Amino acid sequence: MQTQEQIFSRDDNNYLPVFNRYKIVLERGEGAYLYDINGKRYIDFLAGIAVNVLGHNYAPLVEAISKQAAKVIHVSNLYYTEPQAAAAEKLVKLSGLDRAFFANSGAEANEGAIKIARKYAHQFDADKSQIITAWDSFHGRTLATLTATGQPKYHKGFEPLPQGFDYVHYNDIAELEKKISDKTCAVMLETIQGEGGVYPPKNNYLQKVRELCDKHGALLIFDEIQAGIGRSGKFFAYEKYGVKPDIVTLAKGLAGGVPIGAFICTEKVAKAFNPGDHGTTFGGNPLACAAANVVLDTVPNEKFLAHVEEVGKYFKDKLIELQQKHSEQISEVRGEGLILGAQLSNPKKSGVEIVNECMKRGAIINCTVGTVLRFIPPLIITNEQVDEVIKILDEVLSE
Ligand SMILES: Cc1ncc(COP(=O)(O)O)c(C=O)c1O
Repeated sequence: MQTQEQIFSRDDNNYLPVFNRYKIVLERGEGAYLYDINGKRYIDFLAGIAVNVLGHNYAPLVEAISKQAAKVIHVSNLYYTEPQAAAAEKLVKLSGLDRAFFANSGAEANEGAIKIARKYAHQFDADKSQIITAWDSFHGRTLATLTATGQPKYHKGFEPLPQGFDYVHYNDIAELEKKISDKTCAVMLETIQGEGGVYPPKNNYLQKVRELCDKHGALLIFDEIQAGIGRSGKFFAYEKYGVKPDIVTLAKGLAGGVPIGAFICTEKVAKAFNPGDHGTTFGGNPLACAAANVVLDTVPNEKFLAHVEEVGKYFKDKLIELQQKHSEQISEVRGEGLILGAQLSNPKKSGVEIVNECMKRGAIINCTVGTVLRFIPPLIITNEQVDEVIKILDEVLSE
């Protein structure tokens, strides 16, 4: 077996250097724990960035993937398969929308949502193209979705960018009211902003956005790639806020770790696409959909979602206690369910240093935008596991 140093060097010499990787080699997982090649155990409060909703090595998921792989891994979308039909049916039922499309990632799900929104709006007016998104949003890395992402650092160097994107500050309804017009094709928002620092909507913001969209004939797209799949305590985070979009996008946790993406839309919107307007080779293949069916049969259950609410509340309360103890380093705790953030202010160590120190002590957490500790663990974590991470954080902040 190769040593960790040999693997670092093989990867560093060959892989495109776009990730600042942490210096561990992960080998296997079990529940909320990961193990590196030296056998060291880590409690995983990142879940592959909000992906492993059922934890690692979840037996029904492993079994469904293995069984499907033994039958058939992939066939073209030119043919029907039962796993895809079942997964689409479940998403339609759960969302209250009418049609689902499967892609392979979050960016691709959003790309499809942007395309169908444009095609829909152009039926009424060839200039109805404007897509309004939020500053500090994150929607992906393809050219259209990085343009939708309201963070200029991701745009730099990739110009010319696709046209027709405008940005507003999340939670500022007056700014949206000024910017939206009859030329707006869609407003696209994360139901809870994740990558930008964990910002839930405030003061009925999403309801007011819905009203403005309706007034101007613009579609409302919710990106639930990070906040969806039960993470907020509801299967779709928009259920929490009582606002229904015209299109919702999913990915990350949808197949528990197997690559997948999806957008779901109303029949009215779906009619804008004709055969040939959109497609993908791999999207929704039987392997990915067999995995998605396990997630879709598990996460939406009342008991499962109640667990997310309960453990999420316990975790948030513990983070608030930690904030009170280290008030000179943490200024705010935000989030819903199991998408939580702790805002750092003048910490003794930088966010990255805190993450590194936690890792040395056996806890994987994340820092986003440099100053927000972000917690997006598997949804199956227990209060005891929350205590484990809080203890490590307390030690690191006390040093
Ligand atoms: C809200 C949101 N949308 C889209 C994406 C892009 O997803 P992917 O990396 O699967 O393309 C992400 C990824 O972090 C995300 O958090």
